[in-house]
Amino acid sequence: MKAVGYNHAGAADSLQALEQPIPVASGRDLLVRVQAISVNPVDTKLRAGASPAAGEYKVLGFDAVGVVHSVGADVTLFKPGDAVWYAGAIDRPGTNSEFHLVDERIVGRKPASLSAADAAALPLTAITAWELLFDRLQVPRVAAEKITSPATLLVVGAAGGVGSILIQLARRLTDLTVVGTASRSETCAWVMEMGAHHVIDHHQPMPAQLAQLALQAGGPLPPVHYVIGLSQTDRHFEQLVEILAPQGKLALIDDPGPFDARLLKRKSLSLHWELMFTRSLYQTDDMQVQHALLNEVADLLDQGVLRTTVRQHLGLITAANLGAAHGLLESGRTIGKIVLEGF
Ligand SMILES: NC(=O)c1ccc[n+]([C@@H]2O[C@H](COP(=O)([O-])OP(=O)(O)OC[C@H]3O[C@@H](n4cnc5c(N)ncnc54)[C@H](OP(=O)(O)O)[C@@H]3O)[C@@H](O)[C@H]2O)c1
Repeated sequence: MKAVGYNHAGAADSLQALEQPIPVASGRDLLVRVQAISVNPVDTKLRAGASPAAGEYKVLGFDAVGVVHSVGADVTLFKPGDAVWYAGAIDRPGTNSEFHLVDERIVGRKPASLSAADAAALPLTAITAWELLFDRLQVPRVAAEKITSPATLLVVGAAGGVGSILIQLARRLTDLTVVGTASRSETCAWVMEMGAHHVIDHHQPMPAQLAQLALQAGGPLPPVHYVIGLSQTDRHFEQLVEILAPQGKLALIDDPGPFDARLLKRKSLSLHWELMFTRSLYQTDDMQVQHALLNEVADLLDQGVLRTTVRQHLGLITAANLGAAHGLLESGRTIGKIVLEGF
């Protein structure tokens, strides 16, 4: 089968076309014929910093949409021919290959109303955003019969892959006032298109901009009880502590430099890390919630509650096109998601 991989950590042009044997499904694994993928910052970080063992190749890629080709003996959730989507596992070969093995517990049904490419944009970022909101921060769902006091969520770096679906989930499934950050006119417009109530600029002092928003609205915003840092959280940390209401919650997902957690004490702020690979990496007892989560996101897409976050389709899944996608992501200026389709 065709695949794209690399044999030493390096620049985007270290990706190369490979020919590999088709793997065989066993246990709870599905063998999926991959149709479309998207590219995430984790692909670029691994390619730049994680060399495979001498003489071996590493195939990257996490998001995938495809069709189940065959199943292991213990599979109960899917059968050959099913259209699926998923974000894979960080400790297994990736989806930049024609056929791919994945544990059924982290796979969902592909949303029927979306093309393979439009769907491929979403699994990894949707799992991350969902787990941030509902598992780590435990934000109440609108539908839950729970009286909540008004609160604001600030999402820093909201125009990227994660922010684009996180803003949608927060706006459509919760009662929060949603403020995103973006620094350019096109990223500001995109964050509003995803559903934010307001946008502020992460390159300008953020507390003053929030105060200005309150003036424009003719009254204070609900207390900022939740902040999610998606990008450069170490650089923003002191401002985020200043912005958060006492007893608020700060969640983050990036790979920041050191920051001083002692600053959280005075306001009794809590800190929450999210890594969407944790459940598969540790085979946690609740790993299958990612199957249910992906199915629920598929339903919400099919109902028109959520939309795809694709911005760029770069063509076939080749070494050259993947290299171009890695380069765009490494610019730090991506809007929404980049997808590739077919081999
Ligand atoms: N822990 C997990 O499970 C998990 C999951 C997914 C992603 N991640 C990590 O989370 C990070 C974000 O992922 P992503 O896919 O959303 O990335 P992305 O798509 O590459 O994000 C691009 C966005 O980052 C914004 N940005 C650039 N500089 C910024 C700054 N100084 N402050 C705030 N925002 C800035 C840009 O907005 P402007 O152009 O408007 O400045 C741009 O739209 C990455 O480090 C990724 O590896 C972790």
